[in-house]
Amino acid sequence: MSNYYINIVYLISAVLFVFSLKWMNDPQTARRGVISGVAAMLVAVIGTLMNPAIVAVNYKWIALAVIVGTVVGVPLSWVPLTAVPQRTALSHAFGGLAAGLVGVAEFYLSFSSSGHELGHFRAAALCAEVLLGFLTFTGSLMAAGKLQEIIPTRPITYKGQNLVNIGLLGVAVIGCIVLSIDTNYKFIFPVIIFLALLFGVLLIIPIGGADMPTVISMLNAYAGLSAVAMGFVMDNKLLIIAGALDGSSGLILSIIMCKAMNRSFTNILFGAFGQVQAASAETQQRTVKSATPEDAAQIMEQAAKVVIVPGYGMAVAQAQHRVKELYDQLTKRGIIVKFAIHPVAGRMPGHMNVLLAEANIPYTDLVEMDDINPEMPQVDVALVVGANDVVNPAARTNKSSPIYGMPIIDADKAKSCLAIKRSMNPGFAGIENDLYYAEKTLMVFGDAKAVVGDIVKYLAGENNSH
Ligand code: TAP
Repeated sequence: MSNYYINIVYLISAVLFVFSLKWMNDPQTARRGVISGVAAMLVAVIGTLMNPAIVAVNYKWIALAVIVGTVVGVPLSWVPLTAVPQRTALSHAFGGLAAGLVGVAEFYLSFSSSGHELGHFRAAALCAEVLLGFLTFTGSLMAAGKLQEIIPTRPITYKGQNLVNIGLLGVAVIGCIVLSIDTNYKFIFPVIIFLALLFGVLLIIPIGGADMPTVISMLNAYAGLSAVAMGFVMDNKLLIIAGALDGSSGLILSIIMCKAMNRSFTNILFGAFGQVQAASAETQQRTVKSATPEDAAQIMEQAAKVVIVPGYGMAVAQAQHRVKELYDQLTKRGIIVKFAIHPVAGRMPGHMNVLLAEANIPYTDLVEMDDINPEMPQVDVALVVGANDVVNPAARTNKSSPIYGMPIIDADKAKSCLAIKRSMNPGFAGIENDLYYAEKTLMVFGDAKAVVGDIVKYLAGENNSH
């Protein structure tokens, strides 16, 4: 098929990719976004297989790769939701490896009679592709290993670490510049590959396991940029477009997560990130007020407006279906119920959205942090379900707190607050939460699924002895 038709197919694919990202921006259209992304990829693959250069050879090796890819890929989709960050990291690792290997093939083919000679520009693009591809490969493998706790999750730091990393990257970049000027210095090429593989490992070791989701989204950006470079090497416009979309969306997501977690963006670019500062040693003896699920049900029954703030504990307890039953019980009574969604509640982007969607809670009742906060003073009850850091007022008031400056859901500004968790243990940041000690807060201790289940039973009249 001629290039004209292939370009039309690529254009359709590019448009579908753009729509996919647009639709994934909103929970109401997210499913459509996923379907559009899958369709875009399928169209891109079909377009590529129509390429005369591929048709002329034969499809034998491609068919084999499809089989291997399917055998590896399908089981990867079976992982539980909590393992999605490491699964995503593995996908990036394979993406980076593919880009790197294509670069290696292009480089050595360019010296053979069947290859195209590399000009300065293509050689530079090829070096960028290989550098970014291989560092994404080892970096993502390390990230997945840390998240799966196959390798130690704690940050490993040493003196002069940033200098070593930057020095290593600097040598690799100089190698790339030399090769771009004259590709005859062939021996530099494997050195660049080695440095890229090593750099990927060294970049990730100073980063703590729990901060990996932000890093993974950054590695996603690197894999995207590697694809852009590959697009220039192979003169494939769709790769350039899709890679640029991938790279920029990964970058934007990292920035959003950094802001929401109050992390410095430059730190994740250069490592030494994720060293959660030790909480201050003060161990004041303060008391909290606790309530039973029955008390909680009675308080909520009196409310006109309830805002539920879900967090990591809801995910751990898998309490989302009980929360939906609670939502039904309350809305049945004419009570307005909204969900306050913090951008980094849980342990991965969109964690709460996915869980609440799974429980069929209407998207229209999920409200982003910036939109719900102005309403909080008018809310009768803020019901915190397994959230901790994302409702910690220290982020607003305590300059010495490691989360100072992180935006939070203003649960403390509601007229009253009910907080469900199992103990007074801290959350991810390892620090105390003043919200629990506030005059208007009642703690309802227990597993989120069991507690919310008991509240629902009471509201449904099953436990009602009155
Ligand atoms: P956390 O601050 O981690 O608090 C979760 C709370 O849930 C804990 O205090 C825990 O208390 C409680 N919990 C655990 N299991 C429970 C269960 N079965 N039933 C009831 N409660 C349970 O969670 P958060 O407020 O969602 O904040 C997220 C944190 O993770 C932030 O610090 C964020 O920066 C960080 N982080 C987020 C991401 C993304 S992308 N979302 C990525 C990396 C890190 P008990 O043990 O007392 O029950």
